[in-house]
Amino acid sequence: MSETVGVVETAIRKLQEEAGTLRLEGTPVKESRVLAEPYSVTARSSAPGSRVPFDTNALRGAGLLAPEDEVSNLARQYRQIKRPLIARALGPERLPKGYRIMVGSATAGEGKTFTAINLALSMSLEKDLRVLLVDADVAKPHISRVLGVAEAPGLLDALRDPTLDVQRLVLPTDIATLAVLPAGRYSDEANELLASRRMEQLATSLSEQDKHRIILFDSSPLLQTNESHALAQVVGQIIVVVRAASTPEPVLLDALETVKDHPCVSLVLNQSLREAASPYYYYGYGAERAASALNKQNE
Ligand SMILES: Nc1ncnc2c1ncn2[C@@H]1O[C@H](COP(=O)(O)OP(=O)(O)O)[C@@H](O)[C@H]1O
Ligand SMILES: [Mg+2]
Repeated sequence: MSETVGVVETAIRKLQEEAGTLRLEGTPVKESRVLAEPYSVTARSSAPGSRVPFDTNALRGAGLLAPEDEVSNLARQYRQIKRPLIARALGPERLPKGYRIMVGSATAGEGKTFTAINLALSMSLEKDLRVLLVDADVAKPHISRVLGVAEAPGLLDALRDPTLDVQRLVLPTDIATLAVLPAGRYSDEANELLASRRMEQLATSLSEQDKHRIILFDSSPLLQTNESHALAQVVGQIIVVVRAASTPEPVLLDALETVKDHPCVSLVLNQSLREAASPYYYYGYGAERAASALNKQNE
């Protein structure tokens, strides 16, 4: 067992003992026996001019996609991670608002944006669902920048101006099943905007026209900003990304404490490709349904 998996396990145990309300269960995600299918970023639409290019070279250059020789490996990991998330979002036993998924972490640099982008790509391969990737790290809009839409109106503009129809700010990409909502123009009242009642209305309206849409929110760190706490109130699932061999246990515990009242929190252990020759360890936790989904998948 890697040291970090040990840290995560201890953190979970403590939370279960102390908090009680946070039902975190599960088994380590084992290697899938299914062969990996590389991301089909080539599934382009017929009208590329009007669509945001999901430029794999640019994303890879920015360190947000795996190097080519690691694509299959990573695709397999994300396939395992996405299954329980999708089940809780759109499956027969879906959670309330489970289609709204926040990607958070204790501190910056743990891999939230990497996870959000790779999960979005992996989910966009699924039949019968569409993915909306929302750049909700409004102070550091990494996704908006890397996709070249940092100047486009987005989430904050829609929150600020009730006359704006947020649907019209959603940008299609050249992957037909994947759309993006940029962060929008930043201002000091970002936290109040994300905490406002309009945020709930906006999240509802983003799904109204498409009941098969999963909304993935790339977020700011739980321990360094308040915006992520506001966002946590409106989502049905939270993923906490933990950077392997880096996040100290008390820090992780503090972060999990901030979301302990949320009904569905999962952990993803993220091992940077740059840091190790060893395989990545992803460690999925979730409510009971997720655990059984994972177990079934690994049988
Ligand atoms: N699994 C991974 N494999 C390779 N590089 C990663 C991985 N996760 C994160 N990184 C790299 O680590 C850095 C921080 O990741 P990022 O997703 O931007 O963190 P955050 O959004 O939490 O601040 C980025 O440069 C990214 O390229
Ligand atoms: Mg980020």
